[in-house]
Amino acid sequence: MELRPTLTIDRLISELNALAQISEAEPPVVTRVVLSDADLRARVYVKGLCREAGLEVHEDAIGNTFARWQGTEPDLAPIATGSHIDAIPNAGLYDGCVGVLGGLDAIRVLQQLGFKPRRSIELVVFTAEEPTRFGIGCLGSRMMAGVLSPEQAIALRDKEGRGLEELRSQAGFTGSLEAVALSCGRFHQFVELHIEQGPLLEQESIDVGLVTHIAAPASMRILIEGEGGHAGGKLMPGRKDALAAAAVLVLALEGAAKSTGAIDTVGTVGVCEVFPGAVNSIPSRVRLETDIRDIDVARRDAVIEKLKTACEEVAERRGVSIKTEMVNADPPATCNPAILDAMEQAAKAAGKSYKRMVSRAYHDSLFMARIAPVAMLFIPCRGGVSHRPDEYASPEWIGSGVHVLSRTLATLSS
Ligand code: GLV
Ligand code: MN
Ligand code: MN
Repeated sequence: MELRPTLTIDRLISELNALAQISEAEPPVVTRVVLSDADLRARVYVKGLCREAGLEVHEDAIGNTFARWQGTEPDLAPIATGSHIDAIPNAGLYDGCVGVLGGLDAIRVLQQLGFKPRRSIELVVFTAEEPTRFGIGCLGSRMMAGVLSPEQAIALRDKEGRGLEELRSQAGFTGSLEAVALSCGRFHQFVELHIEQGPLLEQESIDVGLVTHIAAPASMRILIEGEGGHAGGKLMPGRKDALAAAAVLVLALEGAAKSTGAIDTVGTVGVCEVFPGAVNSIPSRVRLETDIRDIDVARRDAVIEKLKTACEEVAERRGVSIKTEMVNADPPATCNPAILDAMEQAAKAAGKSYKRMVSRAYHDSLFMARIAPVAMLFIPCRGGVSHRPDEYASPEWIGSGVHVLSRTLATLSS
């Protein structure tokens, strides 16, 4: 089949730019926390594009969105593609959105060519891939895979103490949370297009990455309780400064992650909340949120154990109380060989260079892998930069990704 994805690349780029304008922050900064006003407006925009393309749109009880292009055998389980449109604070415009709008564009390319899929093709827009609001990543796909139960989801709270029930009903998502979980077999196969969020494809001038494994992410919350007081009046001996204790733990995690000697082990403290947060007050309480990942789950867990041991030592030495709480510790996912082969054939047919690689970032595919065969298709991003406003993928890179994705969808749906 002759595919000409450049036919629509200008439209796709202008849609990506239009979506980026829907932000809680001043563009070009993209901040779109799930179920915020910006997130809801962005959903309206994307659903509108899907309907314009003739797709049937429906949403589940937490706003996971399914836009279906009916196949000639509609009773067969569909092929799915998609990603997320929520964005962490101070993000760019490609993370997730390339997989959603690029997935839609791949469908439109096939429509324009007069292709008739045998299996339906469904574009999925997952709710809350980012952990910003509820502290846990991939909320939508996690619930879809039945990994997070409705009870666990209801117990989640954001910083203002607002829960999923309140926020989803305010957004107009009703219905039973029980129905969010989907059975194995609901989707025949799932493919996610995404920017690499690392530097390799650009450095090696490779058009697309065929993702074979997705690293295992974990997150641990650390609550430190010390003793507050007057920053001038209280003398240094005998202080129980919660932030000073936290500082030791930040470095302990960095040390533990580096000590494995493996390039695939990473550890980050991305949140440090200090109470009361006044310049002349000794911090009495600190909450740290840590993110620890590896493609080797045992090696990741060994880092977590080292961090827990550091917590015990620091608590003892500094006379503070430290509690740890695992937010999540997910296993890695392995991508499906048949989809990888289909992507490889698609890349060859499209004349695009490719390599097999692992994903160090997590994605909704990590959870979709529990209920369907999955694979991911990466495109380069400049300097490997992501989760920053200067994140960038060129129209050529995006065009190559959409081209390979459309060919892959054509093969899988035939
Ligand atoms: C996803 O955004 C991740 O943090 O890997
Ligand atoms: Mn992200
Ligand atoms: Mn993403």
